Amino acid sequence: MATATRVTEADRDTQTVTLTVRIKRTQPDEGIVGKWQEFRVEASPLDRFLDVLNKIKWTQDGTLTYRRSCAHGVCGSDAMRINGHNRLACKILVADLGTKISAEPMLGYPVIRDLVVDMDPFFAKYEKIKPYLINDEPPPATERLQSPAQRERYDQGTKCILCGACTGSCPSVWANREWVGPHSIVNAHRFIFDSRDRGASERLQILADRTGVWRCRTIFNCAEVCPRGIPVTELIEDVKRAIVYGSPDVPTD
Ligand code: SF4
Ligand code: FES
Repeated sequence: MATATRVTEADRDTQTVTLTVRIKRTQPDEGIVGKWQEFRVEASPLDRFLDVLNKIKWTQDGTLTYRRSCAHGVCGSDAMRINGHNRLACKILVADLGTKISAEPMLGYPVIRDLVVDMDPFFAKYEKIKPYLINDEPPPATERLQSPAQRERYDQGTKCILCGACTGSCPSVWANREWVGPHSIVNAHRFIFDSRDRGASERLQILADRTGVWRCRTIFNCAEVCPRGIPVTELIEDVKRAIVYGSPDVPTD
């Protein structure tokens, strides 16, 4: 990992810094697989790392490939491993990374090209836990009411932007690509603990399987990297408890 030279608070507004950016490149058509390449870039400490990547792509090497869309921490498409931690490139400032920066694709995913990984297996696992409201009961005349406490119970899971940072930082995923991964459990939690949902037992059965929650070793990497601040490990523990007790602990009113 690159050793960071910290940019001071005083530098933030005034200085341009010269960055040394090492990027792990994979260009299958050129026969390049996982080869580090170094770039020197002028940047402001207030630039986001996504700005730095854009500068490299637009002025030095147009073949550099990475995903981005919203550029504001909402779409989750630019998750990558920056200085050894999964981050959203659009949410981290140069000032917080130092002048020596490394960028590589997230671990635990097949690499398609440069910083772009194949998210298909990630979304297949997400679909497996039925990430939608299940309720076949006849709808009431007005909306399905919920108390503030019932709404609060599943709030954390609603913040997920499906960036994949948690799953790509999980040693259990690196060791076993079959297990559903933290992102699936967070999104299962969002519905299992929703008082309006009736699909909890179906989902708990899926997650009690050998590729489900028990593969979590409470390493906490997921919670540490989540750009939405979701206490991922805590939600996984909630689901484990629901499996052990046979039903989720949802407020009755
Ligand atoms: S739980 Fe956090 S890190 Fe994981 S996919 Fe959702 S937003 Fe990304
Ligand atoms: S580009 Fe959308 S989250 Fe970074």
